[in-house]
Amino acid sequence: MFFDIHSHILGGVDDGAKDLDESIELLKDMYSQGITDVIATPHFYPQTDVLEDFITTVNSKFCELENTIKTKNLPNIYLGCEVFYYSGISKASELEKLALNGSNYILLEPSFSLLGKGFQKELLYLRDTLGITPILAHIERYHREKGFKELVTFIKENNILTQVNASSFTNRHYSRTLKKLIKENVISFIATDTHSKDHRPPLLNEAFMIIEKKFGIDYKQKLLKNSEELFKKITGKGN
Ligand SMILES: [Fe+2]
Repeated sequence: MFFDIHSHILGGVDDGAKDLDESIELLKDMYSQGITDVIATPHFYPQTDVLEDFITTVNSKFCELENTIKTKNLPNIYLGCEVFYYSGISKASELEKLALNGSNYILLEPSFSLLGKGFQKELLYLRDTLGITPILAHIERYHREKGFKELVTFIKENNILTQVNASSFTNRHYSRTLKKLIKENVISFIATDTHSKDHRPPLLNEAFMIIEKKFGIDYKQKLLKNSEELFKKITGKGN
C-alpha cells in the first residue's frame, strides 16, 4: 500500500492531466506501482485564483473522476490542493478549505525567492497557532536558492514536514541534495507530483528501488511508515 500526497491527476484544472482519459491513464500507472490511495492536489495560486471558483471547479472535476473510476481497480482518490506560498498567507481567511481531504494538513509550495525568516515564521504560525500543519512540497527543488541551507536547519530544528518528488531520485542533478537531506533526516514523505505520462510520470517504484539500494531498507521502511501514518490521519481510515 502506498499513499501519494501530491499529484496533478485532475483533468483540465492546471498543468497536470489534460482530461478524464489522461487522469485514468495516470491512475492505472499508479495502481500498477502499488499506489492504493492518491490525493489530487491541483495548483492553487492565492494571489490570482478566486477561492470559491477554484473549489467549485475542482469539486466538480473530482466528482466526475470519482464516479468514472468507481467500479474500476484503481487507487482511491481524495481531494486537496498545492497552495503556492506568498508572504502573509497565514492571515488569509478560509485557508482550511484548501487542506488535504478536509484534514488539518496543507501542501504548501514554497516560493523560490521567499525562503527566509518571514517564511519560516509563517510556517510556525500556521502549525502552532492556527493548527494547520504545512507540508513543504518538493523541497529538493530549492537547493540552489539563497537561504536553502538555513531552511534545512530550520526544518530540522522545528520538525517541519516536507515532501520530495519520486522523480528527483532518478535525476542526477539532485543526487547531492538528496543525500544531504537524507543525512539531515529532513525528508518526511516521497510523492509523485505526477503531471502526465510525459511530464513527471509517477516514478514511485524506481524511486524506492534507488532509496533501498543507496540508503538501505530501514530508511525506505521509515518513509513508507511516515506515509501510512499520514494516510490514517488524513483519511481517518485504517485506525
Ligand atoms: Fe505539484
